[in-house]
Parts: sequence; C-alpha cells; structure tokens
Amino acid sequence: GGGPIVLGIESSCDETGAGIVRDGQLLAHVVASSMDEHARFGGVVPEIAARAHLQSFNPVVRQALDQAGLRLGQLDAVAVTTGPGLSGALQVGLAGAKSLAYAAGVPLYGVHHLAGHVAADTLEHGPLPAPCVVLIVSGGHTSLLLVRDLVREPIAHLGDTLDDAAGECFDKAARILGLPYPGGPAIDRAARDGDPRAVEFPRPLTRAGDDPYAFSFSGLKTAVARWAEKHRLQGADLPVADGAAALQEAVADVLSRKALAACAAYGVRTLVVVGGVAANSRVRALTERRCAAAGVELRVPPMTLCTDNGAMIAAVGDLLVRAGAEPAPLDVSIDPSAPL
Ligand code: KG4
Ligand code: ZN
Repeated sequence: GGGPIVLGIESSCDETGAGIVRDGQLLAHVVASSMDEHARFGGVVPEIAARAHLQSFNPVVRQALDQAGLRLGQLDAVAVTTGPGLSGALQVGLAGAKSLAYAAGVPLYGVHHLAGHVAADTLEHGPLPAPCVVLIVSGGHTSLLLVRDLVREPIAHLGDTLDDAAGECFDKAARILGLPYPGGPAIDRAARDGDPRAVEFPRPLTRAGDDPYAFSFSGLKTAVARWAEKHRLQGADLPVADGAAALQEAVADVLSRKALAACAAYGVRTLVVVGGVAANSRVRALTERRCAAAGVELRVPPMTLCTDNGAMIAAVGDLLVRAGAEPAPLDVSIDPSAPL
C-alpha cells in the first residue's frame, strides 16, 4: 500500500521491540529479550530490564529498518508504548522514540500497551470484527476486554486478575514442581505425560455470585504448594507430570470459561487470545473446543506476535495515523500505571 509508514517501539517489560507497519501490513518485526538475565531471579528485575533496553534500543531499531529496507527519513510516524509497565523500562523506550521522531521530523504517538496486544492479531488476521472479546494472558497480564473500535473508543475493561497473572501462576508453580523458568513452557511439556484428573485443583472465582470476569491465581499456586508438601511429608516422589497437567487444566478451564461467558453476555462472535499463555496447548485446545460449541470464532496470532513486541505498537500507531488521531507532544511522559 501507499499509506503512512509507522515505526513502533515497545519497552514496557523485558522485551525491546521495534516493528514497522504500513496499511495494516507488517514490514519489520525485531525483538531483543533480556529474559535470560532475569532467569536466576525467578522474575523480571526492573533495573536489569532498563539497562538491557538501553543496550538493545539502537541495534533493534537499526535491524527493523534494515528488514524493511528503509531509512529513518522514510518513516511517517513513530509510535511508542507509554504504559502500563515498568517505569525505568518505559523511560528508555520513550526517550529513544522521541529522539527518532524528532530526528525524522515526524509525529509521535503514545500507545497503551494492552491496545498493542489487541492490535497484534490484526497483523495476522486483518481488521478486528466489532465488537470482539480479547483475553490477554501473559506473565504480566490477565485481562478480559471488550473492544469495539480500537482507536475511536476506549477499550472496555471487563475484568482483570486480583492477584497473580496466569503466566506468573505457571512460573511460580513450576518452581514448586522443580521445573525451570519460564515455567509455562516447562509445565506444558511436563503435562504431556500427566493425568489432569489426578488432582482436583480449585477453579477460583467461578462460583455463583463471584465476579464473572475477575481472575485470581494466587490460591491456585498455594494449592499446588500444599499438594507438593503433602507428598514430601509422606516421603513420596512428587508426581510432577500429574501436578502440571492438573494445574494446566484448572487454568485453561477458568480462562476459557470466563472468556466465553463474556462472549455470551455481550453477544460477541469473535474471541481473540493473545499473550505468552496463549501458547499453552491445553488453554488452546479447551478454548477451541468451547468456542466451536458456542459458535464463536477464535483468533490467536502466531506466538511471535502474542508476546511483547514493537510490531503490535506500530499496528496501533498505523490505525491512529490513518484515523487522523492527534499525535503526542514531544514532552509526553510515561504512564507506568496507565488505566484503560
Ligand atoms: O507475553 P509474554 O512472553 O511476556 C509477558 O509476560 O509480557 O508471556 C510470558 C509468560 C510467562 O509467564 C510464561 O511462563 C508464559 O507466558 N508461557 C506459557 C507458555 N509459554 C509461555 N504458559 C503456559 N504454557 C505455555 N506453553
Ligand atoms: Zn504485554
């Protein structure tokens, strides 16, 4: 297409991402992750993340421009995540994006990180049907959103986790089970040899009267810890595969049940699932089955677009530019605890 060329920058957590989008088409997609540097701490360390962004910013942007075969001067806009996220990490991306926009003489757009996650799917499957329900499940988020028009209307936040994110639950439970970090993929692998019915872990906030769209995962982690402790006290070997399979089943059940309840309540025919936990084989299988039964179309972008990246921020920037949205002033600041 001949539309504006938009560079997107993401730096809210441990991924430094740069992506380039034109007319909804992906031209470049580069991500550098500092995940390995956090592994031995069992979670993202904000200081380490910020320093890694500083080191990765220029090379990642350079690679994205190379991938698209573009020079900085050919960009028409720069979009950047302003929040929510880690403040030191966000600062680095915003400062870098401002410099690029200033140097290229193009407008800068501030993007909400979750709007980016929602838009990621458009790069694979085209424009989002309106309305749609979006489930964002990663190490940092567990959010259920109702999206009508990504750029013209605020996203309706149906529910969130009250404590741990779904991915965080996998990561913490993996530690208890003696599996490596990040725990999600390790639990997914271990679960292949397990029986999901070997243990009945709780389904938090699924009773009548509970908030239908809120999540809670810290109790599930505690249940896994108690189950592991019981085995240890008995001097028995921990049936890790069974524990992993049962945990995965509980998380997949709760996530898909609530997402489909939202689709039913709002008469929505399309469910989009994004975030690292969308990679989970059981989450995918159960959600697919329940969507098919309910006549709901399920859209899951490929994993490289599901996890944090700059292309998804460019995708929102592209929509904003084409909608004639107001750019951000060059003194725009980060909003680490941005609401929706
Ligand atoms: O989206 P993401 O890469 O980064 C953010 O958290 O923003 O998500 C990472 C999370 C981690 O908690 C990881 O354990 C989880 O996604 N994850 C999985 C799987 N692959 C990644 N959880 C369950 N099953 C998986 N196959
Ligand atoms: Zn994210």
